[in-house]
Amino acid sequence: MSANPTHSPSTELERLRSAYLDLMRDSLIGRLNEEPALPVSKVEGYQDDHREHGWDWPSKAPSMIGAKRMQNVRSECERVLREDVPGDFMETGVWRGGACMMMRAVLKAYGIADRRVLAADSFAGFPEPPAGSPDVGFVLVGQAEFAVSLAEVKAAFARYRLLDEQVIFLQGLFKDTLPAAPVAALAVLRLDGDMYESTREGLASLYHKLSPGGTLIVDDYFLFDGQRRAVDEFRAAHGIGDPIVQIDNFGGYWIKRA
Ligand SMILES: C[S@@+](CC[C@H](N)C(=O)[O-])C[C@H]1O[C@@H](n2cnc3c(N)ncnc32)[C@H](O)[C@@H]1O
Repeated sequence: MSANPTHSPSTELERLRSAYLDLMRDSLIGRLNEEPALPVSKVEGYQDDHREHGWDWPSKAPSMIGAKRMQNVRSECERVLREDVPGDFMETGVWRGGACMMMRAVLKAYGIADRRVLAADSFAGFPEPPAGSPDVGFVLVGQAEFAVSLAEVKAAFARYRLLDEQVIFLQGLFKDTLPAAPVAALAVLRLDGDMYESTREGLASLYHKLSPGGTLIVDDYFLFDGQRRAVDEFRAAHGIGDPIVQIDNFGGYWIKRA
């Protein structure tokens, strides 16, 4: 069958690229197959508004961040490519890997071979906070659903045909892996470690590597006090006044100006 002559090749490419990334978004959050929530979410079956906002945890799909925050990952990765902001994409706190898979899918959709995705996690769940830490009593520590092994995450990347040398996994606690993370420049940095220390460690080790024009995404700025506190302290200490844009009830981001 011949191509529709009313479509220019570039328009057709954009349409296919967009269709691929739409499908990725809906599959990665468990919307495509209306996947029920994990029992721990205390949600009956599949509820679309929960999946829109990332209020529940899908039983099998690779991400819990919901459609709005997944769309934000996609659109900020696309924006930095359009605007030629130098650097790799990185997430600290990946769980089953879904947001990083969207980052890798954007690179694939645009045929980009010279940027990488870095995925940092303990791959064993949230660390037990030391005595006296602001994270003592954090609600998700010890939650078994968060202990997703590196092998499981790699297998999920492979199922989506996204596992290759452009994806770098950093296994271990952020305090051990992030200071020496093998990355020179970042165009998108997504902090999804939820806790005060996990967020503070990400900012301290990586924010200076974020290129001007790059995006800093904080998954739970409007949800978790500890994460918000770590961000607010860092912004105040470094005189960062770039406005925080709210994504949904939970997430926010800002674009780093020069
Ligand atoms: C909310 S989940 C991430 C969700 C994921 N971004 C998604 O797309 O669904 C938080 C993750 O952060 C990890 N994490 C939190 N603090 C950490 C730390 N200090 N070191 C290593 N991993 C950490 C946990 O293991 C967990 O997988």
